[in-house]
Amino acid sequence: MSQATQALSGELRLVRVVAMQAVATDVMHFELCAADGRPLPPFAAGAHIDVHTPAGLVRQYSLCGVPGATERYAIAVKYERAGRGGSASLHGDVEVGSALGISAPRNHFPLADSTGHSILVAGGIGITPILAMIETLQGAGRSWELHYGARSAGHAAFHADLVARFPERVQGYFGETPVLPVQNIVDRIDVLGDDTHLYCCGPGGLMRAVAAAARPEVAARVHFEWFAAPAHDAAEQASQPFEVEVASTGAVLPVAAGESALAVLRAHGIDIPSSCEEGVCGTCEVRVLAGHVEHRDLLLSEAERQSNQCMMVCVSRARNERLVLDL
Ligand code: FES
Repeated sequence: MSQATQALSGELRLVRVVAMQAVATDVMHFELCAADGRPLPPFAAGAHIDVHTPAGLVRQYSLCGVPGATERYAIAVKYERAGRGGSASLHGDVEVGSALGISAPRNHFPLADSTGHSILVAGGIGITPILAMIETLQGAGRSWELHYGARSAGHAAFHADLVARFPERVQGYFGETPVLPVQNIVDRIDVLGDDTHLYCCGPGGLMRAVAAAARPEVAARVHFEWFAAPAHDAAEQASQPFEVEVASTGAVLPVAAGESALAVLRAHGIDIPSSCEEGVCGTCEVRVLAGHVEHRDLLLSEAERQSNQCMMVCVSRARNERLVLDL
């Protein structure tokens, strides 16, 4: 069972906003405590939570506080003017004392189990999971460097604090156009040795550029946190029809080429939670009992894909005719 499935079995927690602070242009920092006073689940660097916004939308935000803390969580939310309303609701409808529903933490962006150097690359609000990584790396005495790009210093949340704490380790790059010297940064993986890992979170253009700059030999040591699927993926992937079998009832449901398994299951009264519906959040994960999955998500590791034990039904499909799902 992957981390995502474990989280789904957990309850939705009610938290209260105990502090809010503007930390950059259009970026609000929220501190959240459990409404019932019980400890929150511990989390590791790179984890995120689902936040149920007052507008009824569910959005994913990285936990940017100190990993392991159970008395309060921290998230930072950028107001996305062209978004669908999740960030606008958190900026506009929430105040200190407001109650919000959150999920247990899920982590698809963990630090590797390595003692080597870490190259951290953040674009804009992509700094949030990187902040937690810095706390973990620093606490463990592991070496790291941060390359942080943003439109301006005023748009770069936490940059001034990071520079004040770690002047030798933090490099800022500011400008309206992409300003990070991506190839030079990625090439440092070779310079700094076999145990070096690179972690990147930011706009899709930055992450695609980093992925393109990484030679195949080092690709397994380059890690990404996606909060939206790359725009070209769906168009590039042709879809074939297949069937899903609901194990508990034996019902066999056809999924047409243009449909998702999630939509078909819901149309037949099987309620599966979802959020992104782009294969990036893990909310719709379902266990697979038989059949071979064509994984189209951006979450599962290669080992999890090969194990064929679960799938994200919002985007993934079948390699053969039928998948039997543990529903
Ligand atoms: Fe987000 Fe399926 S709903 S991965």
